[in-house]
Amino acid sequence: MLIPDFIIPDLRTDHAGETGAVFIYKGILLISKNNEIVEFANDHLKTESRHLELLEKILPSNEKSKLLFLWKFLGFLTGFIPSLFGKKFIYVTIFFVESFVERHYKKQIFELRKENKSLDLIKLLEKLKNEEISHKEDSLRRFDKLSILERIWGNIVKIGSKIAVSISHKI
Ligand SMILES: [Fe+2]
Ligand SMILES: [Fe+2]
Repeated sequence: MLIPDFIIPDLRTDHAGETGAVFIYKGILLISKNNEIVEFANDHLKTESRHLELLEKILPSNEKSKLLFLWKFLGFLTGFIPSLFGKKFIYVTIFFVESFVERHYKKQIFELRKENKSLDLIKLLEKLKNEEISHKEDSLRRFDKLSILERIWGNIVKIGSKIAVSISHKI
């Protein structure tokens, strides 16, 4: 697969993000006993593990983020903390995470399309993006309105994701 140099930092953020995503669901599954949640988390975990595998294949290992331990830990907390507050908090968290990730992949696809090459890579990122969208929708259909507290938490998750992306873009 043709990987243009300019996209490597973005792929590093994707790899870091998918690593974090796997750990979000590990964090959820560690304490959640509710059947609906366990099923939801196992289903998403399967997809996220596949995303991670795909990125492992295309990102040279010397280009991986040096802070993977941190992304694992923060991902874990992003799943574990809302699990202390019940189902809805988990779905809200996933909704905010996936809305962020959807935009994140869209930006990269847009940049690659401008170059009009790396069609295989575009196809791969499209696939990841579409699966994140279906994760987003899967969480969205499980709750209606957001409380103020959920909105605040969601924004913490969103800002945290932004910061994590800007750091893993570099290191
Ligand atoms: Fe993913
Ligand atoms: Fe996802």
